[in-house]
Amino acid sequence: MVEAAKDGCVFVVFGATGDLMARKLLPALFHLADDGLLPIGYQILGVGRHASIDDAGYRSWAVDALRAAGIDAPQKVEQWCATALHYQASSQASNADYLLIGARIAELETRNNTQNRVLYLALPPGAFPATIAALGEAGLNACAGWTRLVIEKPFGRDLASAVELNALVHRHFVEGQIYRIDHYLGKEMVQNLLAFRFGNALFESAWNRDHIESVQITVAEALGVEDRAAYYENNGALRDMVQNHLTQLLTLTAMEVPAAFEADSIRFEKVKVLQSVAPLTEDAVVFGQYAAEQVNGERVAGYREEPGVSPRSNTETFVALRVQIENWRWQGVPFYLRTGKAMGRRVSEIAIKFRRPPVALFRAAAGTHALSNVLVIALQPDDGFDLSFTVKSPGTPFALQTQRMRFRYAQAFGEVLGGGYETLLLEVVHGDQTLFVHASETEAAWQLFGPLLQKRQRIHFYPAGSSGPAAADTLWAKSPDPLDARSESDSAWHN
Ligand code: BG6
Repeated sequence: MVEAAKDGCVFVVFGATGDLMARKLLPALFHLADDGLLPIGYQILGVGRHASIDDAGYRSWAVDALRAAGIDAPQKVEQWCATALHYQASSQASNADYLLIGARIAELETRNNTQNRVLYLALPPGAFPATIAALGEAGLNACAGWTRLVIEKPFGRDLASAVELNALVHRHFVEGQIYRIDHYLGKEMVQNLLAFRFGNALFESAWNRDHIESVQITVAEALGVEDRAAYYENNGALRDMVQNHLTQLLTLTAMEVPAAFEADSIRFEKVKVLQSVAPLTEDAVVFGQYAAEQVNGERVAGYREEPGVSPRSNTETFVALRVQIENWRWQGVPFYLRTGKAMGRRVSEIAIKFRRPPVALFRAAAGTHALSNVLVIALQPDDGFDLSFTVKSPGTPFALQTQRMRFRYAQAFGEVLGGGYETLLLEVVHGDQTLFVHASETEAAWQLFGPLLQKRQRIHFYPAGSSGPAAADTLWAKSPDPLDARSESDSAWHN
């Protein structure tokens, strides 16, 4: 059950013919509209650089984009594009352009009897400052109803640029209007972390250093950089994944219970986690880059051979980190964070390894200790939970074995969970900032990870299709390692 938005609005997307609009936003808006979840009278205004496009041209671009995104309902798509989509060129991004955009928004508002606006910046990060300033100067930062500004990641390149960008945004918008996107927060399982942690006394009472030995957060991607070299070469895995997506997973896993289930209380607790992390030391960080390798009989290109990538590039496509949170709950519990492209398989998960029972009760009889319980929160591709526990094998002699309890969303609820954008777009229209990143979170994350960028890190090469550079193994607790082939077999899973 998802609640439909009530307030009508004009949804303005800057970067209307870009990749993000084509692949994520447009399909998400279409699905929401198709499910009747967008407010009555909503309209979508695309703002783009192409002066040669008009409404009809934009609609036909959108029909193609939706088809390419795999939506196979031509009549519905055409009808939706014809009634919901509009286009406004902003070729010079000048003040005159913004006045025209304002006039166009006003026209759509009058026609649809609404006074609210979403301004969505689906732009390359370099275009954020000028666009935000222009919106403010043209008076598009406020209207008779509400105005909400959505900013895509990456938010800044380091602490100084994030502080500067926050200052600029705050010159024109108040924090309550600003929705900084991290699409991981729209994933159902990521949101479920809160329900799981704070809705189950069983786990929450053991969620601390007395009971937990280590936490391992893995976001591994099987794909390489694809056709995104222009963006990726300037960013790398630390900026692209760690500072945002992995940080969100870290803070949601480690945070204290918030005072209330609402945006500011939750975001406040997340910031506290980041502020408690000890400065990262060099021996706790490994940067890697994938190299060419034969995978299943086929040669997979190395990062330096990808189109648009410099043959001498030192951009990292892999990062592993060991993080220590210095607070009462987590002191002494290592948090291992790892992400990479062109890895052996696509898997995102949080593995909580509990301490072993502190007795050697079974050593004599079974020749072994009881092993640790491990809770794996699987985020993708197969969302759910696994809890491993020790049982006695049937019969004699007395022997211990590990078994798993397994929960899968798809089995329980019979539906595939969305990629996140539908949820986030709807939350913007609802005006709920819980799933968006606060200014202080962006700055606290840069404060933590920024210093790693100031010094050139040694790059360790790893074969495409592997589990990353061997150097990362020195950081990484050996088990349970989701990228280790053994992890797929129950018995050897967390030895
Ligand atoms: C994006 C990154 O934010 O997240 C990409 O820019 C990455 O490089 C993607 O591939 C991963 O998202 P997901 O939802 O596929 O895990």
